[in-house]
Amino acid sequence: MRTPYGLLFDGALSRVDPERAHRLGFRGVRAVGPITARSPHLTPGRPVQALGLTFPNALGLAAGFDKNAVGIDALAALGFGHVEIGTVTGEAQPGNPKPRLFRLPEDRAIINRMGFNNDGAEVVARRLALRAERIRRQSPESGSSSAQAATLRLGRARLRPVVVGVNIGKTKVVPEEDAIADYRKSTTLLTPYADYLVVNVSSPNTPGLRDLQAVEKLEPLLHEVRLAADRVTDRRVPLLVKIAPDLSDDDVLAVADLAMSINLDGIIATNTTISREGLQTSVADIAARGAGGLSGPPLAHRSLEVLQLLKQRVGDGLTLISVGGITTVEDATIRVEAGARLVQAYTAFIYEGPLWPRRVAGSLGAGLEGVTP
Ligand code: FNR
Repeated sequence: MRTPYGLLFDGALSRVDPERAHRLGFRGVRAVGPITARSPHLTPGRPVQALGLTFPNALGLAAGFDKNAVGIDALAALGFGHVEIGTVTGEAQPGNPKPRLFRLPEDRAIINRMGFNNDGAEVVARRLALRAERIRRQSPESGSSSAQAATLRLGRARLRPVVVGVNIGKTKVVPEEDAIADYRKSTTLLTPYADYLVVNVSSPNTPGLRDLQAVEKLEPLLHEVRLAADRVTDRRVPLLVKIAPDLSDDDVLAVADLAMSINLDGIIATNTTISREGLQTSVADIAARGAGGLSGPPLAHRSLEVLQLLKQRVGDGLTLISVGGITTVEDATIRVEAGARLVQAYTAFIYEGPLWPRRVAGSLGAGLEGVTP
């Protein structure tokens, strides 16, 4: 049976240009944020301890939805336990020419080649600083500027606790040999406001970015980001890397070994894929969309496979966050049972609508041993 959002989506939203629909939808979520925050419902789901933090539940909004940190609390009010903002780059940039976001409704999938359109680290840091200041003013007992467990009062509304991840990537015009300096800039500016930090080296839409996943490039990059993060805050902000599903199994294992050897805190698997296999959408339609990363259910199989590979290799040594094609509670539960401490989604939120996070987060973990230690 179609939900009201499903009917609206099929009837109207799916006919609007996807990027415009995203803007309108997100504007709507933010507009009702203060109202949803006042609702008497508690954050759905069960708390999860991970990365030294308490997550209100296991479900997070994956990076790319709130690239500029403009809607963290409104999104949390929908039921997400964490929101990963970004990808933020050292410099502001417009991203790729439009159109660059396409729906494949037959596959309930998305192809995007946004290309890290974002306001840049300085502007996003200022925005996060203002939010932190609001939190401090309104709940003086929370001394930290980070968002962990902060209860924010907006007007008279008590906003929900939410964990804020900050996902950083490389500015397009910065040449590869200067990539570390670009990540360092973002790290320095944004770490004070991050509950956890993610080095994104897996978007298919920035030329050369995924080459940084090669261990000999990734190691110095992660080392520098760690140093830069430690320089600007006394907290030890957990550091994770986000990887592509298109890595070979051997390369996934090599990243896992590196992560263990340098004491990384976790791995987020996976980003979108450049593969176009197993789609219902016609070959001609797919070809017409052009290049970009594919997300949604067609990604689920490989995303789970990568999680299983990682889990076998690292055991409990790292926090694994699984993302890619998660739509149902069952999808999410399979990931948790396969070793993910947390799960994230983006595409399902687009297709299923604003009530979806509460539905999934609320059921996730019920009856599952090991979700809450
Ligand atoms: C993304 N994703 C993404 N990931 C990232 O690390 N930084 C980013 O800026 C973006 N941007 C972005 C834009 C759009 C339009 C989509 C659909 C996705 C990838 C996202 O976080 C996630 O890893 C994949 O989409 C797989 O999860 P889902 O969508 O199948 O749940």
